[in-house]
Amino acid sequence: MWHSTTVLWYIVCVIAIGGGDRYHPERPTWRPAAARQVAAPDAAEYTAQHWTEEAQAAIRARRARLRGTAAEHTARNVVMFLGDGMSVTTLAAARTLLGQRQGRPGEESQLAFETFPTVGLTKTYCINGQIADSSCTATAYLCGVKANRGTIGLSGAVPRYDCAASLQEAARLNSIAAWALDDGRDAGIVTTTRVTHASPAGAFARVANRHWENDAEILKDNQDPTLCPDIAQQLVKSYPGNRFKVILGGGRREFLPTSSVDEEGNVGRRTDGRNLIEEWQADKRAQNVTYDYVWNRSQLMNVAESLPEYLLGLFESDHLPYHLEADSATEPTLAELTEVAIRSLSRNEKGFFLFVEGGRIDHAHHDNLAELALDETLEMSAAVARAAELLSEDDSLIVVTADHAHVMTLNGYSPRGNDILGPSNDRDEAGVPYMTLSYSNGPGFRPHINGTRVDVTTEPNYRRIEWKSHVDVPLDSETHGGEDVAVFARGPQHAMFAGLYEQSQLPHLMAYAACIGPGLHACSAAATHLLAPALLTTIAFLFFRYL
Ligand SMILES: *[C@@H]1O[C@H](CO)[C@@H](O)[C@H](O)[C@H]1NC(C)=O
Ligand SMILES: *[C@@H]1O[C@H](CO)[C@@H](O)[C@H](O)[C@H]1NC(C)=O
Ligand SMILES: *[C@@H]1O[C@H](CO)[C@@H](O)[C@H](O)[C@H]1NC(C)=O
Ligand SMILES: [Zn+2]
Repeated sequence: MWHSTTVLWYIVCVIAIGGGDRYHPERPTWRPAAARQVAAPDAAEYTAQHWTEEAQAAIRARRARLRGTAAEHTARNVVMFLGDGMSVTTLAAARTLLGQRQGRPGEESQLAFETFPTVGLTKTYCINGQIADSSCTATAYLCGVKANRGTIGLSGAVPRYDCAASLQEAARLNSIAAWALDDGRDAGIVTTTRVTHASPAGAFARVANRHWENDAEILKDNQDPTLCPDIAQQLVKSYPGNRFKVILGGGRREFLPTSSVDEEGNVGRRTDGRNLIEEWQADKRAQNVTYDYVWNRSQLMNVAESLPEYLLGLFESDHLPYHLEADSATEPTLAELTEVAIRSLSRNEKGFFLFVEGGRIDHAHHDNLAELALDETLEMSAAVARAAELLSEDDSLIVVTADHAHVMTLNGYSPRGNDILGPSNDRDEAGVPYMTLSYSNGPGFRPHINGTRVDVTTEPNYRRIEWKSHVDVPLDSETHGGEDVAVFARGPQHAMFAGLYEQSQLPHLMAYAACIGPGLHACSAAATHLLAPALLTTIAFLFFRYL
């Protein structure tokens, strides 16, 4: 159980030639000489069964506790909102900003989902990570199984970068989007990132490295894209992505060859010469279904008037811009995207599963851009508000959560209503101001001068949106945080989401409420709930009769 790897300082170099992305660099791993020996996780964690059984046992326990509270109430529709990196600190700061923008002190404000009746907490660690990335967490909250960092839609049996291991049938997972489709419902994804990015990919991809968004990235890691297709190709060509009725977000470059230039003048990244946007349209044409591909906001608003059966909207070559920096003529808001998706999917009378991601909260935090992180959080709150207006609490479950935290802190002893984006009214030991929102690490490091912190409030771009808050540890990209994240639930079976539990329970809980997927279902629970008293009466009758 114990690895005997305590040697001198050593560096394991993970060579990522051009791989990775700016926000999630693949850093060398350091282990100090005095490091504690590391215990290996229980072997069972590497199986899908372990996490599935863990979740199903928790559902049985909670169902027993909630017996008698409308067990028959089930969800036709499920919308899962994911704020990437939306820590509890981010929520507290964002709600304060919301109130301050409305001219109030702010702390008393509520984000749209903070009014939901049930709140829980999830533990976000991954099998091989104390602190998670967005791909092992996507596997947990969309496929119901904890995984290794950097992998998507695969159990812990698959190490990152291992294409061959990812082909073992037993390791390949199905997402709740597939469970919904299997039940005759519809499914879709909406995100402010590339649609091939880690979080949305959890709904449709099985891939041993989150960065394999196009074939060129797979070749860079010396793996074979014909054996292990890239994420964009899986979305267009494989089940369940090829059955999604709505796919809205960014990332055109992952679908286009290097020889082609998109509508806004950006070149594609594929080296296999394929144009997957055209292939998506050709596939729909061959199925004789109606479809539309749109790349800007006005087109989206036009198709929203009479929606096709299938809609693909790719509004940027890369991620969608931050809301505060977006051109509102070409970029839809997350609330607009959410509304179009819900209107489209609501046409299925059996119901739907929709995944909506506010994906750039995470990116802003990685750059120590607190104002952008909070504004993106408020944009997600607005999208949740829109969904809550469009969908009834009686038949639609809305779940709002985050994949992992960040290391932004809300600190000092400022009085009520103090500008949440401003300095604390406190000073450090040398009398230098510090910010209410700062980070423990990231690119916002300023070297001390003569042993004293610099006064960041005197910097020329202070408080501009590209101004970085200050940090303790200098890093190119701020890291994720390892604490628990909140879960908010409204609609059928919302009370099942209370408590503190593994993140991998989330899709099992949603599936329970919607009566889809392989596990326990609220509808069958309702049956046993009604049956139990009848059974008891019969037994009692027989008992007394034959006494
Ligand atoms: C395609 O769908 C249209 C409208 O539903 C129908 O009239 C037509 O016959 C279909 N064509 C084929 C080849 O299935
Ligand atoms: C949106 O796309 C349509 C169709 O390509 C184009 O005619 C229109 O000019 C675009 N709008 C903007 C604001 O770029
Ligand atoms: C740092 O301290 C030295 C010695 O007191 C002084 O000469 C120098 O100007 C100081 N530097 C700054 C940037 O304040
Ligand atoms: Zn991140």
